[in-house]
Amino acid sequence: MNKKPIGIFDSGVGGLTVLREVRKALPKEDVVYFGDTARVPYGNKSQSTIIAFSRQNALFLLRKKVKMIIVACNTSSALALSDLKKNMNIPVVGVIDSGVIKALKNPDNKKIAIIGTRSTIKSKSYEKAIKKINPDIKVYSKSCPLFVPLVEEGVLNGRISDEVIKMYLEDIKRKGIDALILGCTHYPLLKKSIRSYLKDVNVIDSAKEVALYVSGLLTRKNLLNTGGGKRIDFYVSDEPAGFGKLAKLFLKKNILKPRVVNV
Ligand code: DGL
Repeated sequence: MNKKPIGIFDSGVGGLTVLREVRKALPKEDVVYFGDTARVPYGNKSQSTIIAFSRQNALFLLRKKVKMIIVACNTSSALALSDLKKNMNIPVVGVIDSGVIKALKNPDNKKIAIIGTRSTIKSKSYEKAIKKINPDIKVYSKSCPLFVPLVEEGVLNGRISDEVIKMYLEDIKRKGIDALILGCTHYPLLKKSIRSYLKDVNVIDSAKEVALYVSGLLTRKNLLNTGGGKRIDFYVSDEPAGFGKLAKLFLKKNILKPRVVNV
């Protein structure tokens, strides 16, 4: 048993999709969440910048005495995870491997597509993770930069989101893919619309998978908090206009006022 909190960081509020799943899978854990709202988006930044920001975010969480860190941001997971793992003496878990493992569990998934930010797709991290396990899988990837602002404007279904989904996913759909991994914090909010466009494709939500993976990890390492503090400490690097509304969109409930910090 370990009563220390779990640390989660993201480039902003998108990682609340991961926090939500962690609350479901591990309802007795305390969590410290940090959203780098002053420097979001990470999705089109260079690797050196993403590593520098991710290190600062992780060190902030370490100072909060977390027992492990979940890198909720797919872009940070794609470009900075190995650096963080090398430099931290607590478990650091990204979102990529969990989504990949889920996709490969089903032997019918022979053609798998990944969607994510420009930097995530450019890194080929998902592709490498898939090929490492099964080099025979056909992998297709596509960056979908308009999905982030669409979600943040709350445009989750209807004419506009359907058009944008078609614009990005038309080619992939034509390839006859078996599974699609949602490789960005924001995309789970478009899941229903993406599913209805792709029809029979298995749509995989990394947020859900990483929460289940962390639950297994904490159990194996004897780090579970069975006492149950259920506390969430919420930190951000800026509180932009419309913040509360945006956070509610991702967490599906109101959050307490976040504390604004410099990391
Ligand atoms: N959190 C980012 C991700 O999952 C999306 C938003 C951003 O570009 O920072 O890749």
